[in-house]
Amino acid sequence: MAFALNTYPITYRAKFSDGNWSEEYLEKPHKTSEEEAAMSDDDLAKLQDSRNCYADMPLVNYTSQYGLACFEGLKALPQKDGGLSLFRPDKNAARFYRSMEGLCMPPFPEKFFLSACIETVKRNAKLGFYPHYNSDWEKDSFMTADSVYVRPFTMSEGGIGVNLSSKPWVYVINTPVSAYFSANNSDAVISDRIRATPNGTGWIKACSNYVISALAKSEALKAGYMECVFLDAAHRKYIEEGSSCNIFFYLKSGELVTPELGDTILPGITRASIIELARDKGIKVSERQISIDEVMGETKECFVSGTAAGATPITSLTYKGKKAVFSDGRVGDFSADIRDTIKGIQYGTLPDTKGWMMRVI
Ligand code: COI
Repeated sequence: MAFALNTYPITYRAKFSDGNWSEEYLEKPHKTSEEEAAMSDDDLAKLQDSRNCYADMPLVNYTSQYGLACFEGLKALPQKDGGLSLFRPDKNAARFYRSMEGLCMPPFPEKFFLSACIETVKRNAKLGFYPHYNSDWEKDSFMTADSVYVRPFTMSEGGIGVNLSSKPWVYVINTPVSAYFSANNSDAVISDRIRATPNGTGWIKACSNYVISALAKSEALKAGYMECVFLDAAHRKYIEEGSSCNIFFYLKSGELVTPELGDTILPGITRASIIELARDKGIKVSERQISIDEVMGETKECFVSGTAAGATPITSLTYKGKKAVFSDGRVGDFSADIRDTIKGIQYGTLPDTKGWMMRVI
């Protein structure tokens, strides 16, 4: 299973109107999970496509025309003891609220967000739609482990003029996912493109931000890399983030550096968790500007972080044709340790001493 869409049957939808959010859970067409597993690929694809269609939604709207929307991504992870737990959903709820405020939409109450995430996962699991813990995942540090990806997002009301959304919908869908990045390539390249500009929307989880990411990432893939990395817009000098993830550099000096938050960097929840875990391990962590020259000369290890990315090692970075190789091209000890710690907490093989996991079933 890769990072592909296979929407589970239960979807949540809320609509803002007359100052209130009205909520509903929709049960889209499905068979039992066992019957679906036995279907031909074509028939299953048709059924899954039908779960992704909403005939009562306006086609022309500020989201489809101008990209005015935001989203979240969080995971419900199968636990070693057989349950299913969400990772820090309160943080996604708070960020979604800020994103909607940033896009001048009526913000979605955090308690609605939380209960919609919990309930969709719970209701889909009750119908048999959830991945089961597999101890084989421990062999590759959960890099290929499955989980339920919970995707809350906004959709605007119908409209054609350039406008803000005052009556948005919020949807929450669930889909099973596995590894986001390919396992056999961990090379990255600096993109010539600019992901975010000062006073723009880079700090918001805005859908429109991902247009540049998609272009830059496809260029990187075509050139044989796994990932692209952006430099800042103003100086074309400082590291910002990857195509859909934050980035960390473990320097030869022993300092762990990640670009400081500002209006061009997404405040990642995995990013914040890694900072906390690394500090607990006694590592000096700095959120600061880091130039491409410093990175090329001083990096011992590098990894990208995010809900989808987890903590994925980057073993080389190419800039203007020059390639810096980290840890002799292998996954470094520190990157492996951080990845194993966060994955262990998420999948329940390590104690959740910080209370980050929220049990769903
Ligand atoms: C995530 O890490 O979940 C994200 O939101 C990135 C996504 C574009 C794959």
